[in-house]
Amino acid sequence: MASPQIEVIFDQSTSTFTYVVYEAAGSECAIIDSVLDYDPVAGRTSTAAADRVVEFVRANNLKVQWLLETHAHADHISAAPYLRRQLGGVIAIGDQIRVVQGVFKKVFNLQSEFLLDGAQFDHLFVADEIFYIGNLQAQALHVPGHTPADMAYLVGQEVAFVGDTLFMPDLGSARCDFPGGSASSLYRSVAKLLDLPPATRLFVCHDYPPAGRAPQCEATVTEQRAKNIHVGNGISEEEFIAMRTRRDATLGLPTLMLPSIQLNICAGVLPAPEENGVRYLKIPLDVTL
Ligand SMILES: [Fe+2]
Repeated sequence: MASPQIEVIFDQSTSTFTYVVYEAAGSECAIIDSVLDYDPVAGRTSTAAADRVVEFVRANNLKVQWLLETHAHADHISAAPYLRRQLGGVIAIGDQIRVVQGVFKKVFNLQSEFLLDGAQFDHLFVADEIFYIGNLQAQALHVPGHTPADMAYLVGQEVAFVGDTLFMPDLGSARCDFPGGSASSLYRSVAKLLDLPPATRLFVCHDYPPAGRAPQCEATVTEQRAKNIHVGNGISEEEFIAMRTRRDATLGLPTLMLPSIQLNICAGVLPAPEENGVRYLKIPLDVTL
């Protein structure tokens, strides 16, 4: 089988990697974890980051088949609806998004017309579902923990897009304290990823490099097993849970959590404009998440 080509597009402001996965120029492609720029001070969106993806897709004459989300992100707004309008494609996420929708429907007091069946997305993956990006075979691996709905996307035998399960080895793992998160589940999900063949290249969704290191997007299973500060070197589930719980207690909410999550549980679709033509986001006051 052909090897996947991977274009990496880094969004500096949210430290997010968007990936375009394809076989060759002119083939089908999948876009993974796109970003709609959002300035929370001005309440202004822009498509600058997404337009870099559009440009690459058009320059390589790719046909967008999939707009994949690894999970409902809490740190950036998805540009999938914008990319679907520009390029086509099916917006897909894990079917456990329904659980996430149930939690946040309460937080945002969403109206009864807000469905909890994931129908806002074009496709919901079940665990281990096989799908194709052109001729490339791919598989959705359910890797809950950071959220209940996280999926990692394995493409061919050699690359996997792991979302917010693992970070680069010197940063470790993602937080598990969002509603529905679970350090125990994350430990098992990471173990599943580290059971992939040793040379498998694992692509992360974010990097927050320490001073002096440039952002990096991939490490192999071997590298993660040997060097990951949270899950490498045979750390036990108990040790991991204790470390994760201690660390998560020190973390504040991501700056863009409230805007991001209320849009991303709706596949990134912006709310309909009110009668004055303006769209509004909701901010719950004094709610503990
Ligand atoms: Fe995340």
